[in-house]
Amino acid sequence: MSSHAINMGAESEQTRCPIMPTYGAPSVMFVRGQGTELWDSQGKRYLDFVGGLAVQSLGHANPEVAEAISEQAMKLTQVSNYWATEHAHHVALELDRHITGVGSSPGSESESPSGQVFFCNSGAEANELAFKLARKSTGNGQFEILTAMGSFHGRTLAALAACGQPHKHEPFEPMPSGFYHFERDEPNSLEALMTSSTAAIHVEPVQGEGGVWPSNETFMSRVQELSSEHGVLFMVDEVQSGLCRTGKWFAFQHFGVKPDVVCIAKALGNGFPIAAVWARAEVASAFQAGDHGSTYGGNPLGTAAARKVLEIMERDNYPQKASILGDVLSAALLDLPRVISVRGMGGMLAAELDGDVSADIALQAAQNGLLVNPIPPTAIRFTPPLSTSLDLVDEAMSILKGVLHAQPSS
Ligand SMILES: Cc1ncc(COP(=O)(O)O)c(C=O)c1O
Repeated sequence: MSSHAINMGAESEQTRCPIMPTYGAPSVMFVRGQGTELWDSQGKRYLDFVGGLAVQSLGHANPEVAEAISEQAMKLTQVSNYWATEHAHHVALELDRHITGVGSSPGSESESPSGQVFFCNSGAEANELAFKLARKSTGNGQFEILTAMGSFHGRTLAALAACGQPHKHEPFEPMPSGFYHFERDEPNSLEALMTSSTAAIHVEPVQGEGGVWPSNETFMSRVQELSSEHGVLFMVDEVQSGLCRTGKWFAFQHFGVKPDVVCIAKALGNGFPIAAVWARAEVASAFQAGDHGSTYGGNPLGTAAARKVLEIMERDNYPQKASILGDVLSAALLDLPRVISVRGMGGMLAAELDGDVSADIALQAAQNGLLVNPIPPTAIRFTPPLSTSLDLVDEAMSILKGVLHAQPSS
């Protein structure tokens, strides 16, 4: 298929694109990737500083992950979750070790982990499970979930209701009930929403889609206190910020808190769809057989990929890679024209620009071979592979500099 075939502006019966237009009309078709580089169907090379939206932490087509997936594909791809398969148990123990910090070396997982894991396939599904778990484990009719304004938790109905972005709700109202939103990082606003029906406070330790806004220790500690005082769950959405992205295994670990539930997705399969929810054992024990399920959740292919991803992240010290990459990238961004500030943690950054120009800048950058993500209208988000070399950071920054110089101010 030529790249023209995916340019679906015209909507006659003959030319209509078979894909629903929820992401707008794509202008490029990618056919190959390697590390931080991508090639389109015309052979043009791009630097990918979006990283599949924080998925490709080890880089595109990581050879070790590809081998783990293809070896597994020749052996066993899926059986029902009525039976155990080879990797799920190991991945769950490893996630427990990285979340709790108990057991310090690979394979030294405690045989009796502090938490339990449910595997699913996407971030929204992980959050859905967390909401159900909050309702069931708190009991006493507690069902309300509190999330921050500006937060993003996915696109299924409950995950959408949890998003603190009312404009995303409007076309689909009425939303499922029981979701309330407090001002980001404002303890008083949060406390004012707590009632005897509250089941959980659900927080992104670094808001991603909302524009890359890291939380802080004061707020996160207050969430911890309020949840234990009120008998509600402290849940973190680490779908984007988890798995080394911010310079630690999980972003909540920057703030010295211990959540009850951790939602994980994106980087876990480095491109193979797999997600997970970890919960403290006492919380997880609220679920009985039949309370939740997923035909594909924790399948042998996804867990083979995740096992390899976790092994590589630990062996090659990905938390440190993310910190170094973040330091270099943020210093380089601050040197660019029209960048007024840089925020974020590790390899999850946003550069605030001097006007509502990020969509234009991202478009021009793509035309010049650099992919970046324009959110919100005044900022550009960067979630490159954490394996990105410093040479490629230099190359990306010189493309962006050219674009920023050329683009008129708004
Ligand atoms: C913090 C967070 N939660 C949930 C989601 C939804 O994940 P998915 O698109 O895999 O359903 C995202 C996606 O960007 C996210 O960033």
